[in-house]
Parts: sequence; structure tokens; C-alpha cells
Amino acid sequence: MYVPNEKRYDTMVYRNAGKSGLKLPVLSLGLWQNFGHTGSFANMEAMVHTAFDLGITHFDLANNYGDPYNGSAEENFGRILRGMPGLRDELCISTKAGYDMWPGPYGTRNGSRKYLTASLDQSLRRMGLDYVDIYYHHIFDPHTPMEETALALDNAVKQSKALYVGISNYTKAQTEEILATFRELRTPFILNQPSYNMLNRRVEEDGLDKFCLQNGIGLAVFCPLAQGLLTGKYINGIPAGSRASAKSGLAAQLDEKMLSKLRALSGIALERNQSMPQLALSWVLRNPAVATVLIGASRPEQITENVGCIANLALSDEELAKIDAILNS
Ligand SMILES: NC(=O)c1ccc[n+]([C@@H]2O[C@H](COP(=O)([O-])OP(=O)(O)OC[C@H]3O[C@@H](n4cnc5c(N)ncnc54)[C@H](OP(=O)(O)O)[C@@H]3O)[C@@H](O)[C@H]2O)c1
Repeated sequence: MYVPNEKRYDTMVYRNAGKSGLKLPVLSLGLWQNFGHTGSFANMEAMVHTAFDLGITHFDLANNYGDPYNGSAEENFGRILRGMPGLRDELCISTKAGYDMWPGPYGTRNGSRKYLTASLDQSLRRMGLDYVDIYYHHIFDPHTPMEETALALDNAVKQSKALYVGISNYTKAQTEEILATFRELRTPFILNQPSYNMLNRRVEEDGLDKFCLQNGIGLAVFCPLAQGLLTGKYINGIPAGSRASAKSGLAAQLDEKMLSKLRALSGIALERNQSMPQLALSWVLRNPAVATVLIGASRPEQITENVGCIANLALSDEELAKIDAILNS
């Protein structure tokens, strides 16, 4: 029987999700990879327990996580939750719909009211929940009127199946457009979920981060470690069992230019007495628009190491300039 760490709230830092009253841990655990039926359940459970014991209250899911068995991450998470009775009110759970999920026109990538409504019911069943804390539209759909997507998310709140809503993989212009409808509806739209890390600064280039900050929307950013590239684990080759060993697209990014950047960044981490993932996470968290970073993990020790970034989040102007010079080299 799992007994949570009594000191779980002692060190974690919490930030409000935009201008909402919802507090999120600066590090949240994402269940995109390593939580499907092909993984070890004991390892998944240990990762969730480790995270919760360190004050990570927020767990990020989606209907399609667990690929190739879509929904299996939600099923496994539901099973883990059943072993954590009495803790639902200490947890903030999100899910999403938007990508391909089930056959036919209603379950393939879209943003319709039909799909979003059915998918949320399925997610709740898989996780054994009455409601999720945050329900996201996973990716902008040019073939559904934005107002329909907004109304479908708003309806989930009205039905008490979600407390807050969010969007993911929307540009600044798309965010601006859907925000207008959410404002009319007074929908609790509090989060935007884009990719953001040292190697991918599109949210800065697009102005999405500033727009969200000005409009009271928090960023829950994904792939803060660029799927592991920013951990330094690839500097001396691709370790067996790592994500790049299974994903050729990730391995392909490891050319000499990338490796020299990673080596230089590892030097900065060393000067700060931090590990490289800790530096990468501190860097993302320096952006005031970021409410939380969604980390992924393949084992509990990675979560413990990554949460260690909290001890040294501040980056000086000099360090930031050095990092920019490396990233632009
Ligand atoms: N909205 C969207 O479209 C979207 C898209 C992608 C992700 N997300 C969300 O973001 C979450 C995180 O994405 P991500 O998993 O790509 O994030 P990430 O944090 O960039 O990468 C996580 C991976 O890096 C490696 N790693 C992590 N910590 C490490 C450490 N201390 N030392 C060595 N290796 C370490 C592990 O891979 P290995 O050990 O396997 O090498 C781990 O699975 C997802 O679970 C999901 O919730 C959302």
C-alpha cells in the first residue's frame, strides 16, 4: 500500500496557471511516453509515486498517449490512481483530444463538438474519474470552426466533466482568435500547451509567450529537455534503451553542430553545479509566462534529478548571454 511522503510539499515551488487561482508545480509529469501497455507497470507506478512524493501534483495525459495502444496511458494511470485512494483532491489531472484516436470521421484528428465530447467521456472512463481538472484541445484543426471547438470545451466545463480548459499546439494568432470566444462564454480558459526548450524557441519568436502573459493564460510547456537531447546523455553516443535509440528522427538531430552546442551547455551546467537537465529546466522556467514544465521520464531517478533544478532556478544575465551565444553558434 502506497504511503505518500509526509514532506511532499516542503520543497516544490508552485505557480498560478495564468491569472487563475489554480496552482501548478513548476515541474509536472507527462505520461506521453513509457506509460503504455508495452512498459513495466511497476516502473510507471514508481514514477508517479516518486513525482507525487516530490510535490508534483499535476499529471498530464491525452486520449492517444500509450501509442500504439491509444488510451493505454490513461488506463494505466487509472490503475495507479486506484492504488492512491483519498488523494484525488491533491491531484491536478489533465487530458486532451485532437489527434487520431478511433476509426471513422468522428475519432480522427479534428476539433468538433462530437469528437471532443465523446473523447472526454472515454478518458474519464479509462481513468476512473468523474472529472478532469484541465481539458485541452490537442492541436488546432483548420476544418472545424474555432467557435465550435471553444463551445465544446466550454460545454465540458458546464457538464462538470472539466474544471478548466486549455489549448495545445496553437499559434499566437489562433490563440487570439479562440480567446475571443472563451471571453464571451466566460470559459475558464487558463492554459496553452506549446513545445518550448533551449533548442526550440518558437513561442518566443511567435510572441505566444508574451501574448499569454498579457492575457492571463499560463504556459504548460512540453518537451523541455527536447526529448532528452538537453540531458547530455547523447554527448558520447546514443545509449541503449534511450529514446533516441528508438526514434530515428531524434537520433538524426545529433549532428556535430548539435553535439558541440550540447558540450558547451554541459560546461555551463557544471559551472552552476547543476546537471544538464537541471540547467535546461531552469532555463525554461526563467520565462515568466511559463506556469509549469511538463517533463517526461523513463525511470523514477530521472524525476528526482530533474526536480533538483528547484535548488538553483536563478540564471544571471551573464549566464543567459553565454547560453544564447552557444545556441546561436
Ligand atoms: N501537447 C502536445 O502535443 C505534447 C507533445 C509532446 C509532449 N507533451 C507533454 O509533455 C510531456 C513531456 O514530453 P517529453 O517526454 O518529450 O519531455 P522531455 O522532458 O523533453 O523528455 C523526456 C525524456 O528525456 C529523458 N530524460 C528525462 N530526464 C532525464 C535525466 N535526468 N537524465 C537522462 N535522461 C532524461 C527520458 O528519455 P529516455 O530515458 O527514454 O531517453 C525522458 O523520457 C509529455 O509526457 C506530454 O505530457 C505534449
